Amino acid sequence: MTVTIVGAQLGDEGKGGMVDRWSETADVVCRYQGGDNAGHTVVYDDRATDGGATTADATDAGDENTEYKLSLVPSGAIRGKTGVLGNGCVINPATLFDEIEGLRERGLDPDVRVAERAHVIFPYHRALDGIEEDSKDDHIGTTGNGIGPTYEDKAARRGVRIGDLLDADVLRDRLEGLVPQKRAICESVYGVDPDAFDGAFDVDELFAEYRSYGERLATNDMPVNCGAFLDAHRERGDRLLFEGAQGTAIDLDHGNYPYVTSSNPTAGGAATGTGLGPTVVGSGEIVGIVKAYLSRVGAGPLPTEMGFVEGQTPAGGGNRDMTDLAAHIREAGGEYGTVTGRPRRIAWLDMPMLRHAARASGFTGLAINHVDTLAGIEEIRVGHAYDLAGETVTTMPATTERWSECEPQYRTFDGWSDADWDAVAREGYDALPANARTYVEYVGDELDVPIFAIGVGPDREQTIVLDDPF
Ligand code: IMP
Repeated sequence: MTVTIVGAQLGDEGKGGMVDRWSETADVVCRYQGGDNAGHTVVYDDRATDGGATTADATDAGDENTEYKLSLVPSGAIRGKTGVLGNGCVINPATLFDEIEGLRERGLDPDVRVAERAHVIFPYHRALDGIEEDSKDDHIGTTGNGIGPTYEDKAARRGVRIGDLLDADVLRDRLEGLVPQKRAICESVYGVDPDAFDGAFDVDELFAEYRSYGERLATNDMPVNCGAFLDAHRERGDRLLFEGAQGTAIDLDHGNYPYVTSSNPTAGGAATGTGLGPTVVGSGEIVGIVKAYLSRVGAGPLPTEMGFVEGQTPAGGGNRDMTDLAAHIREAGGEYGTVTGRPRRIAWLDMPMLRHAARASGFTGLAINHVDTLAGIEEIRVGHAYDLAGETVTTMPATTERWSECEPQYRTFDGWSDADWDAVAREGYDALPANARTYVEYVGDELDVPIFAIGVGPDREQTIVLDDPF
């Protein structure tokens, strides 16, 4: 049995919390794309562990709760499940080992496996990510973590894979071919001195550092042939959770290109990124994670945007009359990048985007998060459809230029008051304020997909569960 978790919007829908909740039932949790551009926040009840020293990645989030911010390690690993980074991921080994160390300092012993076919992020990828962004007039607003340049090398068939770190001769050979090319791009294309990047373009330094990662991976028995490893678990009846990062509208194929990440967060990515077939993914549940409003980090259109964020909202975009409301939601929802700390742009729910997501991934269920965040707002809007050159359209246009011309056709909903969300979660769906029920039912009905869960707070217990996908 498999469950695939997919972000239905632009990332940051609260997937980590849902993965965390459902990973309790799963035996193996596998990420299938992306790298340390993702950010998962997991709030964990310390009473379930033996505690330990606080690290930079684990902060006290309440009397008994600890908040873990992870960007690479699958969040299920906190729950003692096997976490796998699939072949569709790009791996920065420095981040991986830092996160594992941070968890060990907390008294946890995460079991993390890494696909031998996954590609490796090197310091020159990170340097080039920044250099390329700086050279553009129209910034994408990447996380700067080298994600795009690493997938570029993968597609160009010159990348270094996890399996290559395990063999000294192969690794040196690859680096000796690659690094001079990267230096030349830096110097000749961008006019930047590669030696200004602290060994990022130095074969010997890179070899020494990455060979030691290879040895560490091997010593800890971490590298796996991902598809075969997962299949063996499946054969013995284990439950597999496939964890998507980012979201549909920044999918390389189905997102608003070029303001996208360089991988496929949509459910198809779960097949190519794990090594199990589409029939396996498709015979399980595919759960779209929806935030009750919308947020975006980085540049690109956002038709239902309220307010604006300097340096991110495009010229002429946003709605300055709603700046205060956007600021309120940003604070109430903690809408700051987990990885970059950037303030997120805030927008009303966009139904054409959700219809597109439901189709592209074939959602069989939904989880709707942050319903509590909208509490206290008198009137809630939803972009039900778009007006595009005088015509009503109900799904996202295929080009970003056309999308940026879309004017939302809004529907309005009466808001709901703040509530004792712990009690609501305990008592179940009927305890949800009536107007909030009307709102979430509208979303489910429009997409014709059942609602499995409703998030009413950051803690894993603050979830109304209507159906367990396992
Ligand atoms: P990259 O993935 O770092 O190449 O960034 C490409 C685009 O995807 C930028 O607009 C980023 O802000 C966005 N992005 C990447 N990862 C995330 C994420 O986890 N959540 C939301 N946006 C993301």
